[in-house]
Amino acid sequence: MKDRIVLAIETSCDETAVALLAYKDQKYTVLAQELYSQIDLHKEYGGVFPMLAKREHGKNLLLLLEKTLTANTVTSSPFSIHEDIKETVLTLLEREIELKEFFKTSLENPQSFLYKKPDIEAITVTVGPGLEPALWVGISFAKALCLLWNINLIPINHMEGHVASILIENESLDTELFPSLTLLISGGHTELVEIQTWGTYKIIGGTKDDAVGEAYDKVARILGLEYPGGPAISARAEQIRSTYTIADAETLCATHAIKLPRPMLHSQDTLFSFSGLKTAALYLVRDLKKVSVTDSLSEEQINLICFEFEQSVVDVLIKKLTTALEKTQNVQTLIVGGGVIANTYIKTRLQTWCDEQSIIFLKPKNVFATDNAVMIGVAGLIQLNHGYATVIQPTLENFQQVVARGGWKIDEIY
Ligand code: KG4
Ligand code: ZN
Repeated sequence: MKDRIVLAIETSCDETAVALLAYKDQKYTVLAQELYSQIDLHKEYGGVFPMLAKREHGKNLLLLLEKTLTANTVTSSPFSIHEDIKETVLTLLEREIELKEFFKTSLENPQSFLYKKPDIEAITVTVGPGLEPALWVGISFAKALCLLWNINLIPINHMEGHVASILIENESLDTELFPSLTLLISGGHTELVEIQTWGTYKIIGGTKDDAVGEAYDKVARILGLEYPGGPAISARAEQIRSTYTIADAETLCATHAIKLPRPMLHSQDTLFSFSGLKTAALYLVRDLKKVSVTDSLSEEQINLICFEFEQSVVDVLIKKLTTALEKTQNVQTLIVGGGVIANTYIKTRLQTWCDEQSIIFLKPKNVFATDNAVMIGVAGLIQLNHGYATVIQPTLENFQQVVARGGWKIDEIY
């Protein structure tokens, strides 16, 4: 079979990302990728500010695309673009001010890379879930390129991208993946999904309120740590774990009156609730400050709270996985995707759990755990290979149905 090549675009949150992916020799290969993280810009807001994210995506997409395509990993041929098409594209970009400006300038330049059509099968783009203003930029961008180059569009669910991320540059996949119990843990999601085969997803559990990553981010803010909270909290928790045994660290927490709840641990269901954990952390910090002469926490106290918070998160995740496993037939693998699985401690605990349950643990490499375009391309290639892709031919009329779907669930068909 001829190599399949797709161009992928991701703008659902605060990462602007473009990638070129190939499926060849039965492997998903990254040909080129560019990612611009807006984290530093959003730090001062302590979280993602949607309109800022939108503007930044608009400012960066075309530049990232140019870098991706000029990496010379895909062939391209000179291509003339009819004036009518240019007009259509600029009208389509009416609401994307930054993008429109960039396209206009590029199209006026005959040397622009836009006049070389890359030899790709389709453009895959995240249409949800995520922040709608941010999603729209990527969607409009993808539509514009598809119209200019006469290429098909494939809308992708961001969470399916996180599932697909386990296939990227992973050597250990000569295994039967399904049925799989899948845990998706990111800044916006905490979901348990039963997967029978690619494209067949059933949500069997999830959070009633905050997502795990969101809890990390909010607790970090309460502790005065920087955004995103995941890496900040886990680094501090690790300082405790590398200094003390778990038992000693727990004793130390007790002597400092540091204890956090394990929300819904005994509820016998597959529901999570992390907002109570965040509130408990808030009260704990308030109480500790009250008795502090400096009205602030010591570094050791902060580290211990981070440790205790991470213990609580992992205890709950494992308990809910155990409940879900009991309710699911014939599970072969635990697949975990989403930014939070960049966490080394969570990975270690989940590996131990999988060993105990005799199932295989599959997770992405760290760089593909947090948001990226590579996973969106791989999801598209999987869909093409397994025959369930929604392939949309490039006409303005067809594209009207492609809209941002901020709350799109993985088990809802497109
Ligand atoms: O998947 P992702 O990049 O974006 C969303 O789709 O939400 O996930 C981002 C989330 C943030 O909440 C961040 O704090 C968390 O992943 N995260 C981590 C770690 N690295 C990122 N959480 C725990 N430990 C980490 N090492
Ligand atoms: Zn994500």
